[in-house]
Amino acid sequence: MNHREEWARRRRALLREMGRDAIAILPGAEEKFRNRDVSYRFRQSSDFLYLTGFEEPGAVAVFVPGRSEGEYLLFCNPRDRERETWIGRRAGPEGAVEQYGADLGFSIAQLDAEMPRLLEGVDRIFYTMGQNEAFDHRVIDWVNGLRARVRSGIASPETFISLEPLVHEMRLFKSKVEIAEMRRAARVSVAAHRRVLRMLAPGLHEYDVAAEVLHEFMRAGCEEAYGTIAGGGVNACILHYTQNSDLLKDGDLLLLDAGCESRGYAADITRTFPVNGRFSPEQRAVYDVVLAAQQEAIATCRRGRHWNEPYEATVRVITQGLVRLGLLRGPVRELIRDRAYEEFYMHRAGHWLGLDVHDVGSYKIDGHWRELEPGMVLTVEPGIYLRPGNRRIPKRFQGIGVRIEDDVLITRKDPDVLTRPLVKSADDIEQGMHVGRA
Ligand code: GLY
Ligand code: MN
Ligand code: MN
Repeated sequence: MNHREEWARRRRALLREMGRDAIAILPGAEEKFRNRDVSYRFRQSSDFLYLTGFEEPGAVAVFVPGRSEGEYLLFCNPRDRERETWIGRRAGPEGAVEQYGADLGFSIAQLDAEMPRLLEGVDRIFYTMGQNEAFDHRVIDWVNGLRARVRSGIASPETFISLEPLVHEMRLFKSKVEIAEMRRAARVSVAAHRRVLRMLAPGLHEYDVAAEVLHEFMRAGCEEAYGTIAGGGVNACILHYTQNSDLLKDGDLLLLDAGCESRGYAADITRTFPVNGRFSPEQRAVYDVVLAAQQEAIATCRRGRHWNEPYEATVRVITQGLVRLGLLRGPVRELIRDRAYEEFYMHRAGHWLGLDVHDVGSYKIDGHWRELEPGMVLTVEPGIYLRPGNRRIPKRFQGIGVRIEDDVLITRKDPDVLTRPLVKSADDIEQGMHVGRA
């Protein structure tokens, strides 16, 4: 797997899309502080990572199609023995060229001096405003500086275009290299869920579960793609629960939503396990509805079907199931029309998946749901949440929360479920937990 060639291919595609007389300016992520003198672990911004592979903070990439002196310029922190001793290695402008394939490397300190020269004679600037106010001002200052010199015959850029739609449309379609990386993220995340399946028992805490997950991620050189959600009992009904502080009790379900990031690419998996190894009849009844909904939805993940079809499938199956369980009353068609299911199923069926867990890419084109095409990856994650204290829910169902989530690659043929090896039916889960204990 040659990442350098992959990054170069993406840049060539971007340069082609931009056309002549254009420039793109893409700042990378900055270091962020958690508290005094302590920074968060650095994560490069996904667009920057996609186009450069460069993982140091405070860099800026500039792309100028057709420029004979170089089309790809990378501005970054210079080598510095003192700083590198304290903080870590730097590639420096030389490394930007040698290791990362930049045509020219510069110290970041040269940005203000170089940009006016690069902007001269350019018509269109691809730059996304509104994400970094301080940087927006610098870009505007560069352009205004040129405008002030218009009378001396200098042409200044007239058009600002957001860079994001271009890059995001590219990112929506995963290459072979990206799919291989996402398979790896899926494999490691499946192993983490299996590990939990084997150790789960009443008396543990939610954080014990989160720790097992993290162990499995880290021993594969991965990290969390998002904060692990380990919700026991009624906490399963809190969609983005990440406190993970409570005791796991006999008779509870555990909703585990955990996925790792492998070289930038995310997996996103949810399973719902009975803490004591056996689903109660009510838990199993709800579980089976969610599972049927998810399977119906995955079956619609085919080229030519539109983005909303998996969601529509989950709404249909979940509404029918809720009626069967006595949680909704009335004709299914009317309940769907009135969105009665939203009381128990209040989120969408999924999202694009890639470098960002909620990945980029539009869901509609010209006001219509876009068609699924080979190379797209999405999650399918219906759920039913029966919140405690809701008097419309019979007591025996209250506090049950179930979500099942897998990652699906659209292909020319059948949906390719990247997370397929992980147990999913209620029987297989019970069996898996039983074996784990033996
Ligand atoms: N883990 C976040 C989500 O499922 O979208
Ligand atoms: Mn998830
Ligand atoms: Mn998800």
